[in-house]
Amino acid sequence: MKGLILSGGKGTRLRPITFTSAKQLVPVANKPVLFYGIEALRDAGIADIGIVVGETHEEIRSAVGDGSRWGVRVTYIPQEAPLGLAHAVLISEGFLGSDSFVMYLGDNLILGGIRDLVREFERDRPNAQILLAEVADPTQFGVAEIDDGRVVRLVEKPKEPRSNLALVGVYMFDSHIFEAVKAIRPSARGELEITDSIQYLVDSGRAVYPHMVKGWWKDTGRLEDLLEANRMVLDSFETRIAGEVDARSRVTFKVVIEEGARVTGSTILGPAVIGSGSEIVDSYIGPFTSIASNVTVRHSEIEHSILLDGSRILDIPHRIADSLIGKNVEVARSPLRPRAVRLMLGDSSQAGIL
Ligand code: G1P
Repeated sequence: MKGLILSGGKGTRLRPITFTSAKQLVPVANKPVLFYGIEALRDAGIADIGIVVGETHEEIRSAVGDGSRWGVRVTYIPQEAPLGLAHAVLISEGFLGSDSFVMYLGDNLILGGIRDLVREFERDRPNAQILLAEVADPTQFGVAEIDDGRVVRLVEKPKEPRSNLALVGVYMFDSHIFEAVKAIRPSARGELEITDSIQYLVDSGRAVYPHMVKGWWKDTGRLEDLLEANRMVLDSFETRIAGEVDARSRVTFKVVIEEGARVTGSTILGPAVIGSGSEIVDSYIGPFTSIASNVTVRHSEIEHSILLDGSRILDIPHRIADSLIGKNVEVARSPLRPRAVRLMLGDSSQAGIL
């Protein structure tokens, strides 16, 4: 079996972060979302992985390389425009050949991996296996209607969903999928939808098996979901302190402090991770916070947030929460008069001020 990871798309729901970075490289618990997908495929015994890339191809290539770090072989497949998930399959035919494959959306995260699902697919040999999960707002997803254990209908982001079963972004196909992706027409949003391709398989009498995902799954395309994913992964951590923590600091509960990080006069209440080269001084880092590398937090309090490389939080009198702070961002108290909030925010930024 081969793997196909989709890592194109614009990531509009995570702007402004995605103006300068691929959404699949935004870190969850200090590891890019995409790496969890590569590891899930590798752990399921898949060593030949195609990654479909778009505008952000250079960044993805330099982060992932040839895959040898994970013991897999990565082939890059450029998609000239984001024309849909089924279009990504269409252009990958040369790489996939007649092999069965797992298609994995690069911004999806499934805790516990996909080993058993791949095994099930290889044992039962349907033409397609889809994963379904109950969600609160099905209008954001592909939605499946199941009757008597069989898939009867699949609709992409329906206005009036007929079930609460969302299509999870991990699919397994045999080579019949190529017939389907070639037969369908673009949807109203101008994309070749994988949802329509699977419907085509159902309509042509192919075996499409549904599988309910019991564990935790997230599409990390929006800030709330990204923060939730961060919570879930951090919660699975165990304390590991490789950096320096001075005698005035208190570090409690599931805290990872990487080598080269320094904590002085601060309280860290996990689950939390502090990356290498970061400095936490006279501050409070609360639960569910991921601090990447070379970050400075001084005289400030922060919780339930993700801070990317090189950002600086200095002397902020109010606690920062539920935030995603990009690379090399500075949030600092200004001594200038007149006293004022002074901002330089990129397009589509959001600032919540007390
Ligand atoms: C895509 C699929 C959708 C699926 C979702 C899962 O949506 O089109 O059917 O439910 O991924 O993450 P997108 O995230 O591209 O809007």
